Amino acid sequence: MLTAVQVKPDVYWVGGVDWNARSFHGYTTEDGITYNAYLIMDEKVTLIDTAKSTFKDEFLQRISAIIDPSKIDVLVCNHVEMDHSGNIPTIKELAPNAQIYCSPQAVKELTAHYGDLGYTPVKTGDTLSIGKRTLAFVQTPMVHWPDNMVTLDVEDKILFSNDAFGQHFASSARFDDENDYHEIMKQARKYYANIVQPYRMQAANAVKAVRKLGPDAIEMIAPAHGVIWRSHVADILDAYEQVFVSGKLANKAVVIYDSMWHSTDKIAHSICDAFLAEGVAAHLMDLKENHVSDAMDFFLDAKYVAVGSPTLNSNMMPTVAEFLTYMRGLSPKQNNTDRIGFAFGSYGWAPLGPKNVYAELEADGFQLPEPAFMYNWIPTQEYLDGVREKVRAVVKANPVA
Ligand code: FEO
Repeated sequence: MLTAVQVKPDVYWVGGVDWNARSFHGYTTEDGITYNAYLIMDEKVTLIDTAKSTFKDEFLQRISAIIDPSKIDVLVCNHVEMDHSGNIPTIKELAPNAQIYCSPQAVKELTAHYGDLGYTPVKTGDTLSIGKRTLAFVQTPMVHWPDNMVTLDVEDKILFSNDAFGQHFASSARFDDENDYHEIMKQARKYYANIVQPYRMQAANAVKAVRKLGPDAIEMIAPAHGVIWRSHVADILDAYEQVFVSGKLANKAVVIYDSMWHSTDKIAHSICDAFLAEGVAAHLMDLKENHVSDAMDFFLDAKYVAVGSPTLNSNMMPTVAEFLTYMRGLSPKQNNTDRIGFAFGSYGWAPLGPKNVYAELEADGFQLPEPAFMYNWIPTQEYLDGVREKVRAVVKANPVA
């Protein structure tokens, strides 16, 4: 029998650990995933979220370690996506009288997913007494779907935040201070960059709503993925406010490219070296060796973005096209207008690879002070030095605000 983990007296983690998950919607999850659900043992036995349907046995075993699942009275659904709602039908089957609370939008989405299981809509400002405790609901639309909300256990000061403040990170320990701090902050950043980034304004509103609860209202943030924040609540809120949702760009650059015979690779290194010479923290990523979801982690607050491709069959390399498509979805045009872009690449008989990269960056809202750096066949050292100086000049003329 699997066990539950006590979060606070009479509050338990009853989720699932997906140790071997290595992808979530095309985002690499090198540390796995957790699907967190929480059980509150009060006069009304309350479950906050469920778990992915394939984790039914693990989830039910952990609940059963505390109480017979048929005794559940209240089920709060903070988010309809199936990694959290997948076992709502299971709970409803075992506890037919359990009342499901969710946002008005979630009522529509849950009905579309599972049929009418009897849903009670709650909005921001609504509360629910479950005995000694009061649950307060705050809608957080688009963090990560239109239905999202967060739930505050007022007396325990636990914010059940669902996707917000989450990380794709599987480990044997459930709390932030039991894990490596830098690893969990890195995974929180990667999670934001690959899941929440397109909804920056809505995420900013969600953070404001959390702040509005008051500085003493929250002792723990218990997300639906990854570790529970208890020692670093201030750190994760600050990271969201000051970096993730702020839209502020840092003195950072990413050089993202693919190459066939190292000519585009040579230009990439010259561009990277120019950033370093100007004191910009640069990261060079060959897409043959790096995944687009890791590239987005570095892209998140990078002022300078250089994208390169040689010409392959009258277009750019498929890896570069994949990056640009993925980036467009996560960082819409309005988020790129303060960024400085560069396009580059070598070619044999038609410069269509770098030209098409330039056109894509232009369509995505980047400022492009230089035409695409394009070289026919193998770039000479003189050409590479010229590229380096042009990039340095652009950086000098366009410092981080
Ligand atoms: Fe973790 Fe939007 O689901």
